[in-house]
Order: sequence, then structure tokens, then C-alpha cells
Amino acid sequence: MKINALSLLIFCFFLIGNISVIAQDEFNYDESKVPAYSLPDPFVSQSGKIITNANTWEFVRRPEIITLFEDHVYGQVPKDFDAITFELAGEDKSAMGGQAHLKEVDITVTKNEKQITIRLILFLPNGQTTPSPVFLLINHRNHENIDPTRQVKMDFWPAEKLIERGYAAAAFHVQDVSNDNKDTFKEDILETLYPEQLQMANGMRGLGAWAWGAMRVMDYFERDPQVDASKAGVVGHSRGGKASLWTGAQDTRWAITLSNDSGCGGAAISRRKFGETVKRINTNFPYWFTDNFDKYNDNEDALPIDQHMLISSIAPRAVYVASAVEDEWADPKGEFLSLKIGTRVYRDIFNLPVDLPAQLPAINQPTHLPYVGHHIREGKHNLTAYDWEQFMDFADLLYAR
Ligand code: GCU
Repeated sequence: MKINALSLLIFCFFLIGNISVIAQDEFNYDESKVPAYSLPDPFVSQSGKIITNANTWEFVRRPEIITLFEDHVYGQVPKDFDAITFELAGEDKSAMGGQAHLKEVDITVTKNEKQITIRLILFLPNGQTTPSPVFLLINHRNHENIDPTRQVKMDFWPAEKLIERGYAAAAFHVQDVSNDNKDTFKEDILETLYPEQLQMANGMRGLGAWAWGAMRVMDYFERDPQVDASKAGVVGHSRGGKASLWTGAQDTRWAITLSNDSGCGGAAISRRKFGETVKRINTNFPYWFTDNFDKYNDNEDALPIDQHMLISSIAPRAVYVASAVEDEWADPKGEFLSLKIGTRVYRDIFNLPVDLPAQLPAINQPTHLPYVGHHIREGKHNLTAYDWEQFMDFADLLYAR
């Protein structure tokens, strides 16, 4: 049979048409097709004990939940090392036209005579008589987003605006701890400091490494007298938002944990399978999660936790979930539900006045309660000046209490 150019062209169109049908069918964006599901109960321990007070929450249930996330989702985050040092690698006391004091700090962690260094970029507002509250961004995008020279200024990290409002602006790049790349993610802390984790089915991977990095920055905040480490917020967008939630869930030193458009493996309920699914994220980004997470591909109902429990484990410290209406891939409704259900622990265990609306709030109408914040803004998947303004408004309220 002879294949002429026209029939080849028709065949190609047929193929492309079918491929796109398959791709669209694979992910659900239709609320009426969200499967029925039941969520694991944060208030019942693994031995069946009903958790009713802060003591059993702190000492029984919360540690259990953290271990479940380690074993099934993110992997362990080792805290042991031999030494940590902080070295001022660069300084400008009149950065931003005199408004800020820039410190570039090399945080070096040593274990078994091997070292890695995280470069922290920190702008402190000048003219303050007391230590400054701070926001730390876990930056996974280009380095130019956190340009210490400020020749490049991006809304992704609006350091000038933070300074204007009396906040210190801090950021580090994830590449210093674990490159955001499936072939090279091991090269930094995993191979250097914690190679045993790579052999473990519940060992640390990329997101855990980034959370570890944020914790080392907190170690620095605690030692800098210009920073008020008791008023520190950890912020991440998307994959960085997954890492910030995992940071705040484990490390109780953060006053606020903020996630922006964090989606699957972040704030969104996995069992909803709306937009990105566990299988899809494990296929495209296997190096973010621990190996055991693969068991839940097309099998979300078997997860012993869901993401609402990540929110619960931050209690009673403040938590903020931000979404964007056009970011359906990240399932804004699932992100909100997780916050709504997860923060019942704030109310029922810690007696905090947390009562989120029953339905996903309207666009650009932030809900700022004491200890819990939420907004869904117009627009696409991104971290914007609007998001940061809401984060600062929320922190203003919290710290004024
Ligand atoms: C991909 C990925 C998401 C992630 C996002 C991001 O879209 O599927 O899970 O949040 O990248 O980090 O921007």
C-alpha cells in the first residue's frame, strides 16, 4: 500500500486528536466527578484513643501524624549533624537606598567531616529599635527572584515592600540543599551528609531536604539579635509551598506557615483527585517524595493520612493557605477543604476561635482569622504582590495580638 502525504497528514491529525482526548480524560476538573471519599480522623490515635486535649495531642497524636507523613509521603528529615556555622559573606548597611541592612550569610553544616553551605539572603529594615519579624521564602525559581543586588526586582519576592512594612525579607535557593532535578537532586545534602537516607523507602528526598534547609535558616534566625525568631513565617509557592507546609508541620519554631498554590502533596486533599493526582506527581517528580508514596498511585484511599492532617499538625501555630482561581491543577477547593477540616484541631483542642466559612470564599476576599488565613485570588498559578500583601496583613494582625 502506498501512503501519500495527504493520508499521512490525516493520520497525524487523528493521532493528535486522540492524544489530547486521552490527556484531558486523565485528569478531573469536574466537581461532580470527585469520588466519594472518607478522610482519616485527626482526633483518633492509631490505637483508637479519642484525642480531646492539648496534652494528648502534643505527645500522642501529633507525633504519630508526623511519623505517618515521614513514612508514607515526604520521608524522614534527619536533624543530626556535627556542627553549624554562620559566616557573613557580604554586607551592605545601606541597601535599598538606605532603607535596609543586607546580610548574605553562609550557613555551613558539617557531618562526618563533610559540609554543605546554604547562602541566606537577608534584608533587615533600618531604623528599628526592636528585632524584626521575618518572612523566609523557600525559592525554587531562578536565582534572579531573590537578587541581593536588587538590580532585578520580582513580585515573587517583593523584598522592598516587606521592608517598607517593617518585616525582614529572607530567602534561600533550594539548589543549595537539593537541586530541583531528578538526576541531580542527590548531589547536595543527600549524598554529602545523609547518604543512608537514599537507601530507605521512607528516606528523605527533595521536599524534605528543602524543609531541612528552612530549619537551618531558623537556626540562624535564633542567633541574629536583629531578627525576632519568635515572629518568623516560612513561605513557599507551589512545590516550595509543599515544602513550607512540611517545615511548619515538623518545626514548632515557626510562628506562621504559609503555602501558596501548593496543590497535590501540599494543602490539597489527595483523595479528591481533582487536577493533579498522586500518580501523576510521583511519575513526574519522583524525587520530591519518599519511595513509599508510590504505593498510593491510583490508591489514595489507602493513605493513612490526608493533607488536612498536615495542616492539623501545625496547630496551634498560625497557618495560611493561598490559592488562585485559575490554578485548577492545584485544586483550590481541595486546598480550602484541607484548611477547613484540618483547623478543627485549633478549635476543638486549642480553643482558638477558628471558624472558616462553610464554602470556598469569594475571589479576592481574604479570610484572616486569628491563627488561620486564607485567600483565593483572581489569576493564575504564581506568587504575586497581592499574595504577599495578604500575608503581611495577616501577620500584622497576629503579631498585634
Ligand atoms: C508542577 C507540579 C506541581 C507543582 C508545580 C510548581 O505543575 O505538577 O505539583 O506544584 O509544578 O511547583 O510550580
